[in-house]
Amino acid sequence: MFHSLKIGITCIASVIIATLCPAQQKAIEPGKIWNDTEGNPINAHGGGILYHNGSYYWYGEIKKGKTWLVPNPNWENYRVNAGGVSCYSSKDLVNWKYEGVALPANTTDSTHDLHTSKVIERPKVIFNKNTGKFVMWMHIDAADYRYARSGVAVSDNPVGPFTYLRSEQPNGNMARDMTIFQDDDGKAYHFYSSEENATMHICLLSDDYTSHTTTEKRILIGKSREAPAVFKNNNKYYLISSGCTGWSPNPAAYAVADSIMGEWTAGTNPCIGPGGEKTWESQSTYVIPLQGHKNSYIFMADRWNKTDLEHSRYVWLPLLINSKGIPEIVWKDRWSIPKK
Ligand code: DGJ
Repeated sequence: MFHSLKIGITCIASVIIATLCPAQQKAIEPGKIWNDTEGNPINAHGGGILYHNGSYYWYGEIKKGKTWLVPNPNWENYRVNAGGVSCYSSKDLVNWKYEGVALPANTTDSTHDLHTSKVIERPKVIFNKNTGKFVMWMHIDAADYRYARSGVAVSDNPVGPFTYLRSEQPNGNMARDMTIFQDDDGKAYHFYSSEENATMHICLLSDDYTSHTTTEKRILIGKSREAPAVFKNNNKYYLISSGCTGWSPNPAAYAVADSIMGEWTAGTNPCIGPGGEKTWESQSTYVIPLQGHKNSYIFMADRWNKTDLEHSRYVWLPLLINSKGIPEIVWKDRWSIPKK
């Protein structure tokens, strides 16, 4: 009697402990379902990472609801209701706490940029030391992608709520897939696929990061690159991008430059080994510099499920710069973040 009571109490205690302290994940498993600390699949696609005061914040597209094919004979294009931008936080880049919707979609005004009938993609957030504001840029589009604009929102808090300011075409240029790169000197640059995605543009942002300056450059002219992810190593700037094949995977390629507004030289595919020719069925979105490490980065990509975008998976892999200054990414089924 006493024995079974003891077993019962032990079982109840284990359930309470498991509920209150969910098991910590120790490794990243690219392409597998990645749950947040509440046990729900992370919904943050086309994402980017902000490192701020010892925490990482992951912002991404909330994909929810029906995914359907936009009837366009020229390009395959499945899309989903714009669901706003989510935010997750983490200390270790493996266990992510859901912080909620950082930028909500608009459900009532069909003319609004953030209305659920529109497209909100590839949100990226940086912090402005001088204004104390967190600034989010994102690709804003109509359902058939004819707007080709960039939207901007600000917040006093990394987890939001962000206040949407407006959208614009930088210096009158079409702008679709994008990223933001913040340099060590505090200057921030908007990289975006322009000219019907044929040519990448780089535009210096204003000092408060909320508008574009006229300092602008065309790079990778006519090379049709999208999904840009930019990082800096050893005073060189690297850009990893994909080709333009809608939600379907294609080979990645890197480009490198000695200065952002200088000459960019196109390089090879950094994804090495079997499957690398199609980026292991994924598409770049961001490169995370590992704090406390000199040459270590995480390549962050989306494995799109084009008929059910919410259930797209994340492919995160180590990215190293080899002795020749070339980025290299190799597949790993399971890997851990190196300790400092
Ligand atoms: C590829 C882009 O990289 C995605 O962000 C999305 O815009 C799809 N194209 C739409 O087809």
